[in-house]
Amino acid sequence: MAFQLTINGDRHSVDVDGDTPLLWVLRDVLGMTGTKFGCGMALCGACTVHLDGTVTRSCITSIDSIGDSKVTTIEAIGKTPTGKKIQDAWVDRQVPQCGYCQSGQIMSASALLAGNARPTDSDIDDAMSGNICRCGTYDRIREAIKQAAQSGG
Ligand code: FES
Ligand code: FES
Repeated sequence: MAFQLTINGDRHSVDVDGDTPLLWVLRDVLGMTGTKFGCGMALCGACTVHLDGTVTRSCITSIDSIGDSKVTTIEAIGKTPTGKKIQDAWVDRQVPQCGYCQSGQIMSASALLAGNARPTDSDIDDAMSGNICRCGTYDRIREAIKQAAQSGG
């Protein structure tokens, strides 16, 4: 069945079963491989995207549940003001180690900052607790979020 999706501002028509997870449409159908597969069970955050600005685990989000919601992925988050600040801070603080989890980390951090310009440590912990990093980059993630929050705008 054909589904119409708006992803990063572009319209896409995809012909897949309705229960196909958004993650696999992004990666396998559309070739947008910045969004990663980790657990497939909403436990790690590697697959995080935004649906209408809200953090969403694409591995458990079926295509037929998306409707008219706008999808934003790591490929375009740098075009948003907060996403740009987060990415700049990530580079400045050299946050990634292996990098595998970092698309999801940046998507969660960007959503946090978009809704809360001055997050406390507790706010950061709450927003980021669903994003697992096996390399243990948590301290740098926290510092980068704080730096992005202090970067004005
Ligand atoms: S792959 Fe979606 S939360 Fe782990
Ligand atoms: S940087 Fe390696 S899993 Fe997070």
